[in-house]
Amino acid sequence: MSTGAVGRAYPRLEGPAKVTGAARYAVEYPVDGVSYGWAVPSAVVRGRITRIDTTQALASPGVLAVLHHGNAPRITPGPPSELRLLQEPTVHYRGQFVAVVVATTLEAAREGARLVRIDYDTGPHSTVLTDDHPGLYAPEHVNPSYPTDTAEGDFDAGYAAAPVRIDATYRTPAYHNNPMEPHATTAQWHDGRLVVHDSNQGASSVQATLAELFALPPESVRVVAEHVGGGFGSKGYAKAAVVLAALAARHVDRPVKLALTRQQLFGPIGYRTPTIQRVRLAADTDGRLTAICHDAISQTSTIQEFAEQTAVYTRSMYAAPHRRTTHRLVRLDVPTPFWMRAPGECPGAYALESALDELAVAVGIDPVELRIRNDTAVDPEQGRPFTTRNLVACLREGAQRFGWAGRDPAPRSRREGRWLIGTGVAGSSYPARSRPSAATATARPDGSFLVRVNATDIGTGARTAMWQVAADALGVPPERVEIRIGDSALPTAPVAGGSMGTSSWSWAVIRAAQALREKLRDGTPPTSEVTAAADTTEEVGGQPALPRYAYGAQFVEVRVDADTGEVRLNRMLGVFAAGRVVNPTTARSQLIGGMTMGLSMALHEEGLLDERYGDWVNHDLATYHITGCADVESIEAYWLDERDDELNPAGVKGIGEVGIVGTAAAVANAVHHATGVRIRELPIRLDKLIGVSGLA
Ligand code: MOS
Repeated sequence: MSTGAVGRAYPRLEGPAKVTGAARYAVEYPVDGVSYGWAVPSAVVRGRITRIDTTQALASPGVLAVLHHGNAPRITPGPPSELRLLQEPTVHYRGQFVAVVVATTLEAAREGARLVRIDYDTGPHSTVLTDDHPGLYAPEHVNPSYPTDTAEGDFDAGYAAAPVRIDATYRTPAYHNNPMEPHATTAQWHDGRLVVHDSNQGASSVQATLAELFALPPESVRVVAEHVGGGFGSKGYAKAAVVLAALAARHVDRPVKLALTRQQLFGPIGYRTPTIQRVRLAADTDGRLTAICHDAISQTSTIQEFAEQTAVYTRSMYAAPHRRTTHRLVRLDVPTPFWMRAPGECPGAYALESALDELAVAVGIDPVELRIRNDTAVDPEQGRPFTTRNLVACLREGAQRFGWAGRDPAPRSRREGRWLIGTGVAGSSYPARSRPSAATATARPDGSFLVRVNATDIGTGARTAMWQVAADALGVPPERVEIRIGDSALPTAPVAGGSMGTSSWSWAVIRAAQALREKLRDGTPPTSEVTAAADTTEEVGGQPALPRYAYGAQFVEVRVDADTGEVRLNRMLGVFAAGRVVNPTTARSQLIGGMTMGLSMALHEEGLLDERYGDWVNHDLATYHITGCADVESIEAYWLDERDDELNPAGVKGIGEVGIVGTAAAVANAVHHATGVRIRELPIRLDKLIGVSGLA
């Protein structure tokens, strides 16, 4: 018996607490005897600390301690190596945290950090990705555990024999995650137990990592992440801030608050790797693909391997008998890259969906029609049917809503005064996975219910979605349900990542609610609290392995100033097929948020690394431009009413990431349609358009 909460638009439960300031973020919890940590970054790229002089810093008013490799508490050796901070004098990349100053005020800690003197021995470094780098190698697998290379049929023969061929190389720069709330932690030790209030995407995972690093039983570590101001992947695992805060708190034997500065987010927390992607497509004259090859190059660090799955998107998106994908990596003297919204799929789709547009132009077929022609009911590499695949329906509905019909395919065919107008389209897809989770449901004598699951709400509306799911599963109005999330003391749950939070947590919540209803068969409130627990480890592990994806189609209209090359977005429209939508309000925010971030990737964001200093030149929000409201004139997101019973009990596919996949290609394709200029290296800035092909 469903009460119909799922599918209804509810405002975020914690909205009032957030707008009144009552909601507490990681470093906003009041703590007695608190002190403040300030992280000190290395000033060299590669080398060794030969001397640390803390005399001046320690003499500065309020400074309690300076931690460094010579005096910091020990943490266990082994992976993840990037978190074993302050353990050795070696410097692996510029910006690596090599000391922490702890003081009685934030200002005193900052001043102390300025006064720490560090001498280094330095060596030569390599920090820029090139396609002929001598260090290129094939990793054992790519994230999370995909094969590095795949091959079906005979790509070379298929490509050589085809009447139409596209061979193009696309480049994307480094992109930096900039959640509003930086990585931040309040750490406290009490009798050998560690309690952290930390900004992360999964308190259970951070708890496990801290327990390992500090050689503690997991129950001796508690991680609270009640409200989190964004993550986008960058807080997917424990990161430097929480480790430094825990080390510092242990060292000074009092609570420590440590928040990274905005500048410190550029690098040390990870970033989306730059990519160099060669895509080759071959087709019949009717636009049917016969051969596809996607060769992707990206970077990792010298301390930890991170192998972005850039070409994985191409493995299942469009059909063709002859196929090949490869990934190559280079270890550079840089911070380890990390997740950023749709890692792999997002940069990969920019390349593939741009190449498809180039093919559409070459064969003279409408780009929407070209994608429909190359749709497939079975996964092209696995040969198994998709649980549901509504790419074509998204393309058709998007085309209709956008007003695509009657588009003149000729580039530069529309002009309004100085503005050249163009439209572009791209497909999107993102895997619909689930992970094991636990949850409990409790019936109280007053007729209310408490549902507990260590989900994380990183600003997405996850708390509200779980509350809706719980109400329907319990068969009661949501007003009678209390939901508790964001604390490792709650039943263990996976991270808010990979677009699998809602699918994974709701699975456990529904099972716990069902178990509770079994216990309360007559439906009357119990005389004392009754609790039922669920753990989906076995059930999720036993899922049939049919390929499962969310899909989308993105349509974009741009205008390009014919004199200056300035690109402006007129409108952007996406239609998605992502299973059941739990809350239309927050779902829409996720989708248009992803699309906005994709626009940002297409037109603005670029991490510029200067090889001489091995550091990012632009490392603040003044110089690293992120799309703001004024850059988005009209944006619409729609979704199909999609039912897919193969997925999980809630029937959801996840919507956190599919919105960004394909956006950059749709923008680039629209810019080509407007100007006749194909930009194969993001971002699309005016300096790449001006003076090209008759502009200006
Ligand atoms: Mo997302 S990049 O999987 O947190």
